[in-house]
Amino acid sequence: MCGIVGYIGKKNAVDVIYCGLEKLEYRGYDSAGIAVIDNKKIQRRRSIGKLKNLQENIKTNSIYGNIGIGHTRWATHGKPSQENAHPHTDCNEKIVVVHNGIIENYIELKKSLQNEGHKFSSQTDTEVIAHLIEKYYKNDLLVAVKLALKDIRGSYAICAICKEDKSRIVVARKDAPLVIGVALGEKYIASDVSALLQYTKDVIFLENGDVAEIKEDSIKIFDIDDNVVDRKSQKILWNAIQAEKCGYKHFMLKEIFEQAQTTQDTFRGRISDELNKIILESIKLTKKEILSISRICIVACGTSYHAGLISKFLFEKFTEIPTEVNIASEFRYCSPVIDDKVLTIFISQSGETADTLAALRLARGKKSKTIAICNVVGSSISREANYTLYTHCGPEIGVASTKAFTGQLTALYLLVMYIASIKEVISNEQLANFISGLRDIPNKISETLKLSSQIEEIAKLFQNTKQFIYLARNINYPIALEGALKLKEISYIYAEGYPAGEMKHGPIALIDETMPVMVIATNSKVYEKVLSNIEEAKARGAKIIAIANKSNNDIVKNSDYQIFVPEVDDFFSPLINVIPLQFFAYFVSVMKGCDVDQPRNLAKSVTVE
Ligand code: F6R
Repeated sequence: MCGIVGYIGKKNAVDVIYCGLEKLEYRGYDSAGIAVIDNKKIQRRRSIGKLKNLQENIKTNSIYGNIGIGHTRWATHGKPSQENAHPHTDCNEKIVVVHNGIIENYIELKKSLQNEGHKFSSQTDTEVIAHLIEKYYKNDLLVAVKLALKDIRGSYAICAICKEDKSRIVVARKDAPLVIGVALGEKYIASDVSALLQYTKDVIFLENGDVAEIKEDSIKIFDIDDNVVDRKSQKILWNAIQAEKCGYKHFMLKEIFEQAQTTQDTFRGRISDELNKIILESIKLTKKEILSISRICIVACGTSYHAGLISKFLFEKFTEIPTEVNIASEFRYCSPVIDDKVLTIFISQSGETADTLAALRLARGKKSKTIAICNVVGSSISREANYTLYTHCGPEIGVASTKAFTGQLTALYLLVMYIASIKEVISNEQLANFISGLRDIPNKISETLKLSSQIEEIAKLFQNTKQFIYLARNINYPIALEGALKLKEISYIYAEGYPAGEMKHGPIALIDETMPVMVIATNSKVYEKVLSNIEEAKARGAKIIAIANKSNNDIVKNSDYQIFVPEVDDFFSPLINVIPLQFFAYFVSVMKGCDVDQPRNLAKSVTVE
């Protein structure tokens, strides 16, 4: 995620940038930095941790300039540290850059730049941008940035300045946001408008592929085909809090809507169509080690545990390795049978959950090979596991996990197919189908997000319900658990998730007209079975809300309300089916007047047992 800010004008850029970064701290907070040009020199200050550490640093080592850039970091490549904090410079500290996004081909670029003699001082993907600009710089920063961008694959919002030319900032964006704040004799740049509002309400939203040259008195924008374009400025009427949430009422809603982007960020750079390959550089298990895995043992809590449950279906089907899934708080107090042939996988958004961390230590003590799937780079679990696969979803602020869950699922899909391909138990054709299916998921998620108002209408009808049952089967059963958890935690309605086929063994006794049933009935090998389970509930008076596909004709007569989601392979369906359930919980919570982002009794990171 990360937040970037830039300023050019008559004010002290350090103050302006710092105030902007404060507003963007929600986008990342593991380190921060500011660079300005003063007397033809780049002055740079960077600090690890929260922004106030940077403030202390600047208080003791003050800097000043009328042009500058700043960054608050959410680590993706390279742990949170001072040398990995932005801004990054080239070899000669002539050019300085801040970046939000992921450079997919940074390893190859870095190797070739190193062969050409460039010296790197961080482990970030961003630093290659500074060196590329240096390589192409011939007294014109704009030209150098444009040439550098031609070499880059991935997503970026960047701001670059050069000590030899303090009259301009060059910025560019692709698949990461960037706005320009317009005012007389000065210009502001930021990842989102929240950082600009205290200075100006007039902003220009750059479009994908735009490059812009920004001076005190002018802005020149080039589109993706290098034509000069006129992007009109808009007046922003949001207040500061609305702006931080990009106009959404709650962080949870914003995070639900981010999922098309965040799932893409999770697989970005990790799949190759040309090579028909999954590339997980951080997982350094050898082929011999992978072939020797006798069992996979997954450990997590809450929503992360549900992601683990889904992956069990996938690991067993595609890697042919027996897989079990454990709740971390239970795992650590039973007697897990684990040795060096068992691969243990720990899933945690925060990477700090005490029970998951304790379980990881237990597994390591038993010589198991450990993989962490985490969102927060540099977190305890990510540091202590042998290997970590990051989800790259950006900070999740809403307590109820949404985008981190779909990020975890995406990372697990990659890991499953990676292990299966190394074991050579899937064909090239299966792998190619998987890769093209995964590439299409962000589009399918975008389509699903369009259902929000329909789901809001259905939520209105159920806002006063006291209880709910969520049913599904097979790979979507954990989605029933997840949907029920979302409803419980943010709207305080008692909800249970059940495997639909298990109803007749007891829970069906609960069903009457006061117990609505949410059921996942998308196309799959168990669709017919789910239909029968719906009929059993309907016959006992329950109102049925079905998540289904348009091609399921029977569902209209069997259910009271239908939410038609786009059709995907059953294998990927959890990634889609969870979204209506997130929306449903969200809207019910809002209608009940609950505190959506900070539900009672809950914390974002559970660092106690
Ligand atoms: C539910 C939720 C929690 C977390 C759980 C584990 O919406 O957010 O159930 O999933 O506390 O947290 P992490 O993933 O940080 O280990």
